[in-house]
Amino acid sequence: MFIPVKKSEDRKENYGLLLEHLPYYINADEPFWTTLANAAAVIDYFLDDVNWVGFYLLEKDTLYLGPFQGLAACTRIKMGHGVCGQAALKQETMLIEDVAAFPGHITCDAASKSEIVVPLVKNGRLFGVLDVDSPSLNRFSSMDRVYLEKVAAILVDIL
Ligand code: SME
Repeated sequence: MFIPVKKSEDRKENYGLLLEHLPYYINADEPFWTTLANAAAVIDYFLDDVNWVGFYLLEKDTLYLGPFQGLAACTRIKMGHGVCGQAALKQETMLIEDVAAFPGHITCDAASKSEIVVPLVKNGRLFGVLDVDSPSLNRFSSMDRVYLEKVAAILVDIL
């Protein structure tokens, strides 16, 4: 059962709460899709001004839609395509201030204006990506990068 935690007005404090609470909702002895389903919900709960939070998971050379919160989305993304495919290919976080200015951006929810994608990499092996979209331009900062990479590290540790 998810016990709603009182959120702060401060994004950094909310990230602290997210990192504190996430481990209670994931278990190393359960399938990774179960872990990622709860992770998507917990991340969505603690972040403000976001309209899509979810995972794309690598199978051969394609990223397939995994657990998420938000509107229905495209089901597959080729490696190197879109923001997700670029983050996966480079195995590095992509922080996009304005998705309309990113060549090859794949629109799933037309409301999305900015986006951050963090790869899930364990021992050099790519599992997939965490994708977070916002309806506001320039929503994400280096602070989001730092904390979402910490979230990704917690997740890959038990995948
Ligand atoms: N915008 C992403 C596609 C996924 S959706 O935003 C959920 C991209 O360009 O890779």
